[in-house]
Amino acid sequence: MADKVIRTIGVLTSGGDAPGMNAAIRAVVRTALGKGLKVRGIRKGYQGLLNEEIIDLSARDVSDTIQRGGTILQTARCEEMRTEEGQQKAAAICKKYGIDGLVVIGGDGSFAGAQKLAHFGVNTVGIPGTIDLDIACTEYTIGFDTAVNTAMEAIDKVRDTSTSHERCSIIEVMGRDAGYLALWCGIANGAERILMPEEHDYDEAAIVADIQECRKRGKKNYIIINAEGIGDSINMAKRIEEATGMETRATIIGHMQRGGSPTCKDRVYASIMGAMAVDLLLQGKSNRVVGYKHGQYVDFDIDEALGMKKAIPEYQYEIAKQLAL
Ligand code: ADP
Ligand code: F6P
Repeated sequence: MADKVIRTIGVLTSGGDAPGMNAAIRAVVRTALGKGLKVRGIRKGYQGLLNEEIIDLSARDVSDTIQRGGTILQTARCEEMRTEEGQQKAAAICKKYGIDGLVVIGGDGSFAGAQKLAHFGVNTVGIPGTIDLDIACTEYTIGFDTAVNTAMEAIDKVRDTSTSHERCSIIEVMGRDAGYLALWCGIANGAERILMPEEHDYDEAAIVADIQECRKRGKKNYIIINAEGIGDSINMAKRIEEATGMETRATIIGHMQRGGSPTCKDRVYASIMGAMAVDLLLQGKSNRVVGYKHGQYVDFDIDEALGMKKAIPEYQYEIAKQLAL
């Protein structure tokens, strides 16, 4: 059992970075300091924990960070943390540095690490941080709002030139396993087609037929939002151009979606979640994850959160298709 008296809180970011993570770190640091606790920052996620890259954090260390993209603590993916030896070692390092409560900012994989640490006696709370929006227990994840706005603005620009040249544009957005960025951009940018990893068996022949039909109806461009999980945008563009005779270009937006100054929403939600994580630890809670559901900030047991399922909302996808008339 974890000791429930919290004197020192650790904070780390893990997995892919996301704009707004700094706002969450800042909130953890300042909430904890304000409540008389000591705060330690762990660099480079679980890898940094295992390498003992641990620093003391003061209120001034997080000054001037709320508006910055990336994560000031840096992040990493760490295979060793997936092993029981790695998890035991990480828990022992937390104890060595007096970290009795740990805030983990990341996605489901990072929460699985926090769950294991809780099992080995470290009080943990997770905060959802990913541009993919693919965490089942929450309708909000840190970074999605910034990333989707970055992608939307980029797609608007591609659309301008696509219209001028009467081209088909295939624009690839991030999301290896999740199509939320693609779906939202599809609606926000008025795309003709949205390809998401959840629907791997999309019908390219139907797209070709639709492009030909749209040309007849006088459409001046044809926008396909393609998620990274489907990928292959460059070859897809060649195939579509050959089959339709319509000039087709592929644009891969890439990691610019992961960077940049966070939106107001990402700063505010991340700040509230960061403060809440500290409060949960101080209430003696552990193995929890913070979420946002039905207009409320909530928390769940990590075991329960990791067991939840989330699917692309079929009705929203149908609306996107309907609006592409
Ligand atoms: P995300 O947190 O965004 O889902 P990953 O899936 O890459 O990103 O996970 C981040 C890190 O969390 C991994 O590199 C690993 O260190 C840790 N992790 C992932 N899955 C587990 C697991 N089942 N047990 C322990 N640690 C895990
Ligand atoms: O999870 C965030 C994310 O950007 C995904 O959308 C993408 O598939 C993946 O990370 C890319 O990760 P990497 O940083 O390894 O390129």
